[in-house]
Amino acid sequence: MLKIVTIVGARPQIIKAAALSRTIRKMFSDEISEIIIHTGQHYDNNMSEVFFEELEIPKPHLNLHIGSASHGEQTAQMLIGIEKVLLVEKPDYIVLYGDTNSTLAGALAGIKLQIPVVHIEAGLRSFNKNMPEEINRIMCDHASTLLFVPTKTGIENLEREGFKTGSSSPYTSDRPGVFHCGDIMFDNLIHFSEMAGRKTDILQNLNLKEKEFVLCTIHRDNNTDSHERMKQIISALCYIQENLGLEIVIPLHPRTSKIMESSLPKELYRRLTGNRNIHLIPPVSYLEMIALEKTACLILTDSGGVQKEAYFFKKPVVVLRPETEWVEIVENGAGIIADADEDKIVEAAKYFLKNNPLAFPEIFGDGHAAEFICRMMLGQKPNGIYKPD
Ligand code: UD1
Ligand code: UDP
Repeated sequence: MLKIVTIVGARPQIIKAAALSRTIRKMFSDEISEIIIHTGQHYDNNMSEVFFEELEIPKPHLNLHIGSASHGEQTAQMLIGIEKVLLVEKPDYIVLYGDTNSTLAGALAGIKLQIPVVHIEAGLRSFNKNMPEEINRIMCDHASTLLFVPTKTGIENLEREGFKTGSSSPYTSDRPGVFHCGDIMFDNLIHFSEMAGRKTDILQNLNLKEKEFVLCTIHRDNNTDSHERMKQIISALCYIQENLGLEIVIPLHPRTSKIMESSLPKELYRRLTGNRNIHLIPPVSYLEMIALEKTACLILTDSGGVQKEAYFFKKPVVVLRPETEWVEIVENGAGIIADADEDKIVEAAKYFLKNNPLAFPEIFGDGHAAEFICRMMLGQKPNGIYKPD
């Protein structure tokens, strides 16, 4: 039996882990045993617990309850906690997702103990080291033994850093296996998309009609921690609501809701919160989120995951960042990078709302990334599933 320790901590990691856990339970329960460790990075019920329940993820074996702290303190405490678990469990692999501080701590703990690191969502680059996530993903990739890459661009990024595809097993951290396997979030969407319509009533509760609202999320530190950037983004949202006749739904990350009032000029804050057609709501569950994504006419976001989900649902996306790791979305014309610039955001929204024809070629695999990953960890040939070119 192959034993893996999976580390989760932040909302998107819990969601991604659902796909692998589900696949292990359905197809590999005789071959893979999984121990889930939650670092506690996200701890509010609607940032953590809700996803375990809704996505039927087994309860974590252990929650380290690290919580919020500065980058150094948070990562260091996680490193200590994860190392203790690894020393006891001695797994065959430690499995990590994405680019958060929980990912970085897991990668350091794993490589130092020479426990092979599996990185899911490897190879993504923003080429902006001011982003904490860019540091985390580079460090994790370079500590990994198996790198599972969602896109072709991710493979090219890794090749530029000296990684090689096509090498044969046994893989080691010095001679890692690099695989283009599609996106594990796409597995989830295929699984949950139809359910989202049936099992949630968020659209009715907010009285929203198909294609008559814009969905927006904001949580990146360079947006939330800058008064000017928050001002530009919120001014654009107010303009879009007031002048383009669309409702706006903003499920607010706790980071954003905590600073909103103090960050914005008083008048803009009143304009935002006094507008009944702008729905500022707490973070929603995954099924609620995908119900919103499927029904919105346009999505504005600085989230990585939400950009991809917009594309999966064939919705245009305005990226509230200076760059994106998901460059294919922009190259295909389904996304526009508007940064935190009020004029650019409004122009991009107007452009997409004209209903110009958009193309969404398949770039995120076939929805079987989790099966591919399990088979590679087991040393099996992933026959019959996604064969990237
Ligand atoms: C983290 C990840 C980011 C990811 C995001 C997903 C890092 C460096 N960043 O950012 O890559 O896109 O998660 O959502 O790992 N807070 C709460 N309750 C919670 C969680 C957070 O109130 O349950 C508040 C706290 O004030 C905390 C702040 O949000 O200080 C930031 O949380 P943190 O986990 O440090 O980073 P995120 O911005 O969530
Ligand atoms: N999400 C959610 N509820 C919300 C906002 C986002 O379930 O209120 C989901 C979203 O559908 C996606 C993931 O969280 O699957 C994205 O996470 P987030 O934006 O926090 O982080 P990022 O992807 O930028 O790292």
